[in-house]
Amino acid sequence: MSTYQEFIQQNEDRDGVRFSWNLWPSSRLEATRLVVPVSCLFTPLKERPDLPPVQYEPVLCSRANCKAVLNPLCQVDFRAKIWACNFCFQRNPFPPSYAGISEANQPAELMPQFSTIEYIVQRGTPAPLIFLYVVDTCLEEEDLQALKESLQMSLSLLPPNALVGLITFGRMVQVHELSCEGIAKSYVFRGTKDLSAKQIQEMLGLSKPMASGQQGRPVAPQDASAFCRFLQPVHRVDMNLTDLLGELQRDPWPVPQGKRPLRSTGVALSVAVGLLEGTFPNTGARVMLFIGGPPTQGPGMVVGDELKTPIRSWHDIQKDNARHLKKATKYYEALANRSAVNGHSIDIYACALDQTGLLEMKCLSNLTGGHIVMGDSFNTSLFKQTFQRVFSKDYNGDFRMAFGGVLEVKTSRELKVCGAIGPCVSLNAKGSSVSENVSERTFNINAGGKKHIFAECGCVFDVYSHNAPVPQGGRGAVQFVTQYQHSNTQRRIRVTTIARNWADAQSQIQHIESSFDQEAAAVLMARLGVFRAESEEGPDVLRWLDRQLIRLCQKFGQFNKDDPTSFKLSESLSLYPQFMFHMRRSPFLQVFNNSPDESSYYRHHFVRQDLTQSLIMIQPILYSYSFYGPPEPVLLDSSSILPDRILLMDTFFQLVIFHGETIAQWRKAGYQEMAEYENFKQLLQAPLDDAQEILQTRFPMPRYVDTEHGGSQARFLLSKVNPSQTHNNLYAWGQETGAPILTDDVSLQVFMDHLKKLAVSSSA
Ligand SMILES: *[C@@H]1O[C@H](CO)[C@@H](O)[C@H](O)[C@H]1NC(C)=O
Ligand SMILES: *[C@@H]1O[C@H](CO)[C@@H](O)[C@H](O)[C@H]1NC(C)=O
Ligand SMILES: *[C@@H]1O[C@H](CO)[C@@H](O)[C@H](O)[C@H]1NC(C)=O
Ligand SMILES: *[C@@H]1O[C@H](CO)[C@@H](O)[C@H](O)[C@H]1NC(C)=O
Ligand SMILES: *[C@@H]1O[C@H](CO)[C@@H](O)[C@H](O)[C@H]1NC(C)=O
Ligand SMILES: [Zn+2]
Repeated sequence: MSTYQEFIQQNEDRDGVRFSWNLWPSSRLEATRLVVPVSCLFTPLKERPDLPPVQYEPVLCSRANCKAVLNPLCQVDFRAKIWACNFCFQRNPFPPSYAGISEANQPAELMPQFSTIEYIVQRGTPAPLIFLYVVDTCLEEEDLQALKESLQMSLSLLPPNALVGLITFGRMVQVHELSCEGIAKSYVFRGTKDLSAKQIQEMLGLSKPMASGQQGRPVAPQDASAFCRFLQPVHRVDMNLTDLLGELQRDPWPVPQGKRPLRSTGVALSVAVGLLEGTFPNTGARVMLFIGGPPTQGPGMVVGDELKTPIRSWHDIQKDNARHLKKATKYYEALANRSAVNGHSIDIYACALDQTGLLEMKCLSNLTGGHIVMGDSFNTSLFKQTFQRVFSKDYNGDFRMAFGGVLEVKTSRELKVCGAIGPCVSLNAKGSSVSENVSERTFNINAGGKKHIFAECGCVFDVYSHNAPVPQGGRGAVQFVTQYQHSNTQRRIRVTTIARNWADAQSQIQHIESSFDQEAAAVLMARLGVFRAESEEGPDVLRWLDRQLIRLCQKFGQFNKDDPTSFKLSESLSLYPQFMFHMRRSPFLQVFNNSPDESSYYRHHFVRQDLTQSLIMIQPILYSYSFYGPPEPVLLDSSSILPDRILLMDTFFQLVIFHGETIAQWRKAGYQEMAEYENFKQLLQAPLDDAQEILQTRFPMPRYVDTEHGGSQARFLLSKVNPSQTHNNLYAWGQETGAPILTDDVSLQVFMDHLKKLAVSSSA
């Protein structure tokens, strides 16, 4: 057999799945003893250019509480035309259209290479895509101008039959009627009054919903326009909308000295959600919110308009001193819930130097599968290019967007799904529904997206006790069924079915150990940590992570009791402690160097990126460029900072180019301009080219920092590298509590020494 490395890679490429363990312990007790739960990272809509969808419906198991999809793991009797469900063992006849199948003539879904397969289940009149722009006008002139240009540009990126609408807000909220004839009208709402969906729909004159929702019949775009003057096909109104956007002015209400502008973000969103709910329930739609500051009045306000009252900090929150926090969060959560139910997603583009209330508003995006993009100004390439990338197309020329996603996870009876971490909302009111043989949970992943854009689901499984013993040599199976609306408006179902062998943890512990996927495990445990950090105090989360790490080392390390020098980890676990070291120092767990908005932003992206990107966030990558050889990755360690090197650090959120002392002097002296130092010029250029390559594909665009030895921005690098050469190492351990805690801000070496000590200790 190939190595586990190859096996893991192959599975990720084909199915978008990475499991923490690739052999599963056969009892619950054994599973608990492995410390890291049986869990997986799954990309529901991984881009697969090599996987053309099939144009028919999936065949389902006939048992009412199973309904698993026919897959390559099912036993098939070709002669009798019967298949046995691998989840509930029900024997099912094939439908009549499969009469012609034989061993030599198998449908795609039975072939092993189609462990992931996609079905197009509905053609016919497609429902249009809908984009509703919700634009803050309390912006500086430069920001508003830049934003208007970006919005105008975006019209050319939409499919011509997409419906588009515009709401603007400052002190008041305006819904713009987009008609091609006559005078443009708008409806004005006060920014202080919370209105119900019904009131909003009445005020806008939308008496009855007309889209697909009710009768399950999609409405052709040309009919839709007759109903709703606020959402019109792009091709009919793009000229007028371009003009309308061009004429947008800053909010006309004067802002007195010492005050913030009155910004009615809460009501604006409520109107947007109510408008879509009333017109296009259960149809793919995107609300795109652009804000340049915090909501300052009405429902959802985050801070008052007095500038002398600053917006809440982590310290305020910790002291329970954030007056609007709970109420605002609850308000946005209710809006998010309504949107999620209707398959509408909400993006937030927040560009400002100060906080804008992302902490309170993040659930709008996190519960609906929307994007969050944070920048300093709308007039930056970070915003402009990131926004353009939202409309990027895949290899097929389709938008990298999906709507109304619902993910069902089915497992064979020895397993139970106990939860999902990621941009998903559980749809099971009473938690998991477990029948005798099949356990199943359903999650709303809503605008679940494709690779590099979003949606990466983590699932944690419980190996649970059941009466029948796990069959020797048997396999456990998991099926992911993702239903969604493709951006080309087809309804599709993607099915991924995977299986792993059961292993007896008594006799086969080495096999289980070598099946460990330390990268997946690190990301999964880090996500569980971040998930806890949302509700628990930071130190408690660190303590929890530390305890798990120590237990894992105790379980799998090789050592003599009380002899730290004897401690060793096998190759399959060797990198894991280092990931945890960096995770503990990361902005996902250390919040006090960041604002609450920044922490929310970092965490939001951490739980939705795929494994590779998540690992970069945990442990940034450092490359070195010098005259002594080709560029190479170097240790994320302060010893890597040398005078005659250029470093390129990728933290996912930042790309930092750092010029060592000597290089910086040469650059200042202008050697790169001189013909005889052509090689120096090339050396300076090399990291720029590599950075450019990363900038091309990343979403959102990272912040780009060009700095040098002694530069003020060098802190971006210094805060990430392992402080192997600092002087506080000697007295860094917090022994006073006596608890097995790993102290903050020590070097990796000290961390490892301490970890070994705790792992081998007979008392820990
Ligand atoms: C945006 O920034 C660029 C470069 O910093 C500047 O030249 C341009 O005038 C700015 N745009 C606006 C609308 O102010
Ligand atoms: C829309 O554009 C058309 C042609 O460009 C123009 O005749 C019409 O008056 C515009 N309508 C509005 C409401 O501005
Ligand atoms: C949103 O939905 C979740 C799950 O259904 C529920 O627990 C929560 O209370 C809802 N929040 C609000 C504010 O309605
Ligand atoms: C989504 O938001 C909810 C509520 O704010 C929070 O509890 C949850 O942890 C968030 N999930 C993610 C994946 O960020
Ligand atoms: C569960 O599976 C067994 C076979 O292992 C079968 O006899 C039984 O009918 C199944 N029960 C249900 C409820 O599906
Ligand atoms: Zn079944």
